[in-house]
Amino acid sequence: MLDKKITPRFIVEYLDQYVIGQDAAKKTVAVAVYSHFKKIARARADNAPIAKSNVLLIGSSGTGKTLLCETLSRVLGVPFVTAEATSLAQTRYVNEEIEAILQRLVDKAGSDIGKASSGIVFIDEIDKLKASDGEVRGNSGESVQHALLKIMEGSQVKLGGGQYIDTTNILFICGGAFVGLDKIMSQTHGYGFITWSKDDSQKILDRLNTRVKPTDLFTFGLIPEFTGRLPIIANFQDLTRPMLVRIMIEPKNSIYSQFQDIFKNEGVELTVEKKVFEQIAELAFEYKTGARSLRGIFEELITPILFLVPDHPDIRKVTIPSLFGEATLVRQ
Ligand SMILES: Nc1ncnc2c1ncn2[C@@H]1O[C@H](COP(=O)(O)OP(=O)(O)O)[C@@H](O)[C@H]1O
Ligand SMILES: [Mg+2]
Repeated sequence: MLDKKITPRFIVEYLDQYVIGQDAAKKTVAVAVYSHFKKIARARADNAPIAKSNVLLIGSSGTGKTLLCETLSRVLGVPFVTAEATSLAQTRYVNEEIEAILQRLVDKAGSDIGKASSGIVFIDEIDKLKASDGEVRGNSGESVQHALLKIMEGSQVKLGGGQYIDTTNILFICGGAFVGLDKIMSQTHGYGFITWSKDDSQKILDRLNTRVKPTDLFTFGLIPEFTGRLPIIANFQDLTRPMLVRIMIEPKNSIYSQFQDIFKNEGVELTVEKKVFEQIAELAFEYKTGARSLRGIFEELITPILFLVPDHPDIRKVTIPSLFGEATLVRQ
């Protein structure tokens, strides 16, 4: 089902080209999807059911959860769709909505039901389905968890055209920010008392301490059966300023390279000094939306220049030395 060359290391190296940092999460996810597809292959050979391990991604908004999943689906070459848990909670027709998600997966697979039934469904904002957050208009978070549980466990779902799709082998990846989970964890994790430990054991302690336990998720508001279906947890780190700088510059399709291409099409060489990226990162860091505000700030900076350039074919080079200074134009 997966190409032979696709190993966990291959997946991580591909992700590295687009997603900055998040090394632990990349490894966890790469191993999880790799084992998932191996399990399916073995189960087919043995004609036995698989014990599926769906994945939960936990991390602040704008740290790369969705980006990682999208990039993952490209490298795996399997059909992939994303859905928002919040929209499931807002509708009165959860089952229709779930059916629509699976229909989109079938469409992505070029109407090949077989291919779709080993695809990946990413459900974002899963933390918004807290059991306590009763919605008056739509469904309670808890009832949506039950509806999702059914397809995550594996069931036959009837699609619009009267066809059925078996969800047993579909890999579900859920994502959420889980604001407040760290507080719950700091109250329930009791490893911290060993304070005499050396560096090495400190590392192990740190790892234990950052491990989310199923009980933490219950306390947060996920029902036990639901958490039980998400045994693999990948934590996303908050992005540091240097990471924000790297995000604008390094990925294959980085904001910087995209705008350099746009200027190149106008016959102009664009240079943005490192300092500018550091200034943008500083602002974005204050906004606390991860990498989300980077593009907006960058575009605000570049728009006046992009407005000017097409009317001045003599401009050959544009250099931006600071977020607050004038750009230097070199004309022919
Ligand atoms: N770790 C990262 N590496 C590269 N780009 C990132 C990273 N995190 C966020 N971004 C950028 O920010 C945007 C929003 O990130 P997203 O993956 O949607 O965040 P999340 O799903 O965690 O809320 C992405 O489209 C991407 O441009
Ligand atoms: Mg997201």
